[in-house]
Amino acid sequence: MLRVRSAVVRHVHFDSQELHWIREHFRGNTRLVYKAVARRQSGEPLQHILGSQPFGPLDIRCNRKVLIPRPETEQWATRLLHYMPENAKVLDIGTGSGCIALLLAQKARSVWAVDISEDALNVARENATIHNIKNVTFIKGDYTDSALGSVIAEKHLVDPDILVANPPYILQDEYDRLDPSVSEYEPKIALLGTDKSVLDVFILAQYYKRSPSKPTGS
Ligand SMILES: C[S@@+](CC[C@H](N)C(=O)[O-])C[C@H]1O[C@@H](n2cnc3c(N)ncnc32)[C@H](O)[C@@H]1O
Repeated sequence: MLRVRSAVVRHVHFDSQELHWIREHFRGNTRLVYKAVARRQSGEPLQHILGSQPFGPLDIRCNRKVLIPRPETEQWATRLLHYMPENAKVLDIGTGSGCIALLLAQKARSVWAVDISEDALNVARENATIHNIKNVTFIKGDYTDSALGSVIAEKHLVDPDILVANPPYILQDEYDRLDPSVSEYEPKIALLGTDKSVLDVFILAQYYKRSPSKPTGS
């Protein structure tokens, strides 16, 4: 399996390892290899050229519609997978490619994965299908909406033991300085947050903590 660890490519530093992965991926087809090299040299992320990014044991398909899963996310999600109890119920906020949800689904009883972007949800659904993962429910929703907790709880009988989130948290001035290999290829909605993004998710978590009538289904 291809292992790509440098998810954020700061400059088009085209090393021999990348060339090796490209050659391997296109099975030495010279025309396709040249094309891929040209795309890479123009700044396109390697993950878009190869079509996926490894995340734990999963190969996660990704494109311009979703954030490329980052190695640091893979690291904490893998630790969480190790420590979380069997059969936990998990709510993943801002699921993007579905990488976290699908990884945790290996041990969880059920996972609900929320995103505001229908495009992202489609990629996440595709990843679930590719890996034949059936215990994840994808929900369109906005975590800045204070009613989201009650809406998803009531409509989808969500009663999570664990809430995970990797919300967009890059502020505008930092976003404006991002390397084009990130800002031109990854969705703005997945990157640009506010200084309230994390707070919004905490507020959502509070719903489950305080909810007097937690749903009993699922
Ligand atoms: C930083 S990306 C994380 C994607 C994936 N969980 C990961 O770790 O690779 C943030 C995700 O949050 C979603 N998002 C942004 N604003 C949102 C909102 N208000 N409500 C729900 N999801 C949102 C974006 O579409 C994006 O998929």
